[in-house]
Amino acid sequence: MSVVLVTGAAGGLGTAICERFAAGGWDVVATDRPDARAPVGDWIPADLLDVAQIREMVAHATTIHGRLDCVVHAAGLWTEGPSDATTEDEWDRVVGVNLKAAYFVSSAAIPHLEATGGSIVMISSDAGVQGNAGAAVYSASKGGVSNLTRALALELAPRGVRVNAVCPADIETPMLKGQARDFGGADPQAYYAKLRSAYPQGERARFLAPGEVAEVVWFLAQPSAAGVTGANWSIDFGLSAGI
Ligand SMILES: NC(=O)c1ccc[n+]([C@@H]2O[C@H](COP(=O)([O-])OP(=O)(O)OC[C@H]3O[C@@H](n4cnc5c(N)ncnc54)[C@H](O)[C@@H]3O)[C@@H](O)[C@H]2O)c1
Repeated sequence: MSVVLVTGAAGGLGTAICERFAAGGWDVVATDRPDARAPVGDWIPADLLDVAQIREMVAHATTIHGRLDCVVHAAGLWTEGPSDATTEDEWDRVVGVNLKAAYFVSSAAIPHLEATGGSIVMISSDAGVQGNAGAAVYSASKGGVSNLTRALALELAPRGVRVNAVCPADIETPMLKGQARDFGGADPQAYYAKLRSAYPQGERARFLAPGEVAEVVWFLAQPSAAGVTGANWSIDFGLSAGI
């Protein structure tokens, strides 16, 4: 049986990814913050801001089922606001979880993925493909994830490990609700409407369901995607296709 390790597994997208792999017959190892609890899979809590905990978590994850076939880095933090008001702590937390942890989770998993001919799937963002006005820290972290994906794919290709990213637009998850709550002022609906107004669908614009993104992640982990590595697949209704 193939085994996937999912970070951010208690989150909106992470949970959907765990459910998709479980439905496909894979064993799922789920990790998230110690104060969270993933609903699906074997549970290993870890704070991804601590590289020692990352290494311990990945080592533990590989012992549960004795192999590792895919790592999905779905943990993430959002922040936005004027760049002359950003704190160092905000930068460290957002870049730490989104980018630094993506690197060190992958790094720790490499030998295990090499053993199975496995793959890594990063959750980047449309903000990894283009800059999001007012979200420079988040955009920097996701741009880093997208280019990390390319560089790792090239480095690991000779070792038989594929590395890809998906770049979704807004997904209906607790993160999006948190964005509206923390940054949307008094009217979350106005915040959502402003986000939707950027999509080319006009009146038909909508946000993604977590399952729609999980389906693409699932495909990228399959042997049928053997030719896909170093890719950043947009799942954004054309948001980043141009103006
Ligand atoms: N929701 C969106 O609109 C959207 C759009 C594009 C990309 N993304 C990306 O998708 C991924 C999943 O986001 P989501 O929407 O499910 O958000 P979410 O907030 O529901 O889930 C994120 C998870 O990351 C975990 N996490 C945060 N800090 C952590 C830490 N220090 N250690 C361990 N775990 C930690 C949280 O506990 C949470 O469960 C993220 O990388 C996010 O940036 C989200």
